[in-house]
Amino acid sequence: MRPRIIAVSLAVVVAALLVGTLAGRAIGDEDEVKAAAALKKAVDEGNRLFRDAALGSGGKACAACHEDPERPKLALASRAGGYPKWDRREDAVITLGQKIRQMIEKNLKGTPPELGSVALVSLEAYIASLASAR
Ligand code: HEC
Repeated sequence: MRPRIIAVSLAVVVAALLVGTLAGRAIGDEDEVKAAAALKKAVDEGNRLFRDAALGSGGKACAACHEDPERPKLALASRAGGYPKWDRREDAVITLGQKIRQMIEKNLKGTPPELGSVALVSLEAYIASLASAR
């Protein structure tokens, strides 16, 4: 009688552990898929905005300068990781988001999107994605 109770208890514990692990793994996988899709969407949107002169009123998009073959020093690959850093124009340590806002205001003659807005975060995601693209 007793061994059977022990065996049944053990089986219940093992089954519970198995179900718990499988459920945990399924939720983990789901989050990973969601995270990758969300990041891809942000990077794609940032890529689009990077080429969109409508961000400003000067008729220029970011890519006009930053992808100009005549100005290879302006290529942004691997630059995102350097932030926060000191900026000459601001004479302060700023984030990548703040730098992009400055670019939109001064170089695109546009109204910069708020920090944390979808547009600004997308541009940050795109520039950060260039770090691994080379
Ligand atoms: C008229 C040309 C021009 C346009 C348009 C322009 N930039 Fe720039 N950008 C520059 C120059 C020149 C620098 C380097 C001097 C400085 O940091 O201000 C720079 C610097 C930067 C940096 C800092 C790079 C580093 O090494 O730290 C980032 C990030 C950046 N730009 C992003 C953008 C984004 C995003 C846009 C579009 C919203 C944009 N730029 C539009 C000319 C431009």
